[in-house]
Amino acid sequence: MRSEMEQDILKVLVTEEELKARITELGEELYTRFAGRTPLFLSVLKGSFVFMADLVRACQLKSDVEFIAVSSYENATASSGRVKITHDLQQDITGRDVIIVEDILDSGNTLVFLKQYLMTRGAASITIVTLLDKPSRRTKAITADLAGFVVPNEFVVGYGLDYCQQYRNIPYIGVLKPEVYSA
Ligand code: XMP
Ligand code: MG
Repeated sequence: MRSEMEQDILKVLVTEEELKARITELGEELYTRFAGRTPLFLSVLKGSFVFMADLVRACQLKSDVEFIAVSSYENATASSGRVKITHDLQQDITGRDVIIVEDILDSGNTLVFLKQYLMTRGAASITIVTLLDKPSRRTKAITADLAGFVVPNEFVVGYGLDYCQQYRNIPYIGVLKPEVYSA
């Protein structure tokens, strides 16, 4: 039976099974790339928290986790272009191999800002892993080192991604019905 929440979903773009299979591959790729090192997985909150939890378990390296929260969207579906840190790093990252774990790479504003910020904080290397990539919307010259899925220019929810802070707990990636936005 579909939950009340799921009745708001117009279509599924990436299924639970596809997510699981791809994240297993991403974990194995990171395991190979970082063999013998101890990277720091940095989750960009809130959107990447579900992906982060699955990715770190798919990559059985000695590693630790850290969180940062940035904001640029403020409950709208278009970027303001400005990025600010709303929850900062709680540890020294000097000399660390940082793996940024992002939910979606859209305009590129967030990751351009974060990459620069992490360099000023002394990271030894920065690797960008994004679950979703929306290249059609890019306005900044930035690419992910690893991307799970390329998605079309549609606003997506689920698996951590929200619309007005909701739908993060849907276990797959989907698109909302238009009437949900106009409600
Ligand atoms: P930029 O434009 O900085 O965007 O690359 C990155 C952040 O924007 C949010 N974003 C979305 N969130 N569905 C969402 O729930 C979307 O389709 C979407 N597109 C961008 C997201 O927080 C991401 O980290
Ligand atoms: Mg995000």
